[in-house]
Amino acid sequence: MKTILFIVGSLRKQSFNRQLAKLAENMLADRFDIKYLEFEDVPLMNQDLEAETPETVKRVRQEVLAADGIWIFTPEYNFSYPGLLKNLLDWLSRPMDISNFANPSAVVGKKVTACGAGGKNQTMSCRAKLNELLEFIKMDVMKEPQTGIALGLEAWTEGKFVLTDEQIAQLKEQAEKFAKFIQ
Ligand SMILES: Cc1cc2nc3c(=O)[nH]c(=O)nc-3n(C[C@H](O)[C@H](O)[C@H](O)COP(=O)(O)O)c2cc1C
Repeated sequence: MKTILFIVGSLRKQSFNRQLAKLAENMLADRFDIKYLEFEDVPLMNQDLEAETPETVKRVRQEVLAADGIWIFTPEYNFSYPGLLKNLLDWLSRPMDISNFANPSAVVGKKVTACGAGGKNQTMSCRAKLNELLEFIKMDVMKEPQTGIALGLEAWTEGKFVLTDEQIAQLKEQAEKFAKFIQ
């Protein structure tokens, strides 16, 4: 069975993006092994740390290497992607063996897609910039379709995550296309 690694760009316990990931997991779990990347303990990028790669960085690289595809679920922060996601991707973008920059990173050629739940902008600016970054670090990006959810009023007032049938259909379409993309 192929593996899809989910990366959630929010550390919030009740994260809507984590809830969105759960829905996507239910759509794929009969055919794929779904794993979540836990990366809270990855340190802030500091080139002084690179000579002796931190254990947590080694672990996230191994999890990425072992996956057939990566699906990022992320909120939009100030018209872009959250800093914690950028920090993770910065670590992942570096050669695994830093002694030679010709050496591969863990993400090169890796198939990836993204989606997100946020405000009225449906995380569009976040995903446009994220897609650019993912391509820059030489990942194989599925840019269409990508699900963008504008959270409803009940999300902001009561913390409830309710998707319309249309939004669920959108997520399902992305799940099916990504399943084909990584075959
Ligand atoms: C620092 C910060 C900046 C934000 N900027 C935006 C933004 O530019 N556009 C937007 O739609 N939402 C913005 N938001 C709101 C988040 O997208 C929203 O809270 C979202 O639900 C968080 O996702 P989560 O539930 O997965 O944590 C911002 C939130 C924070 C904390």
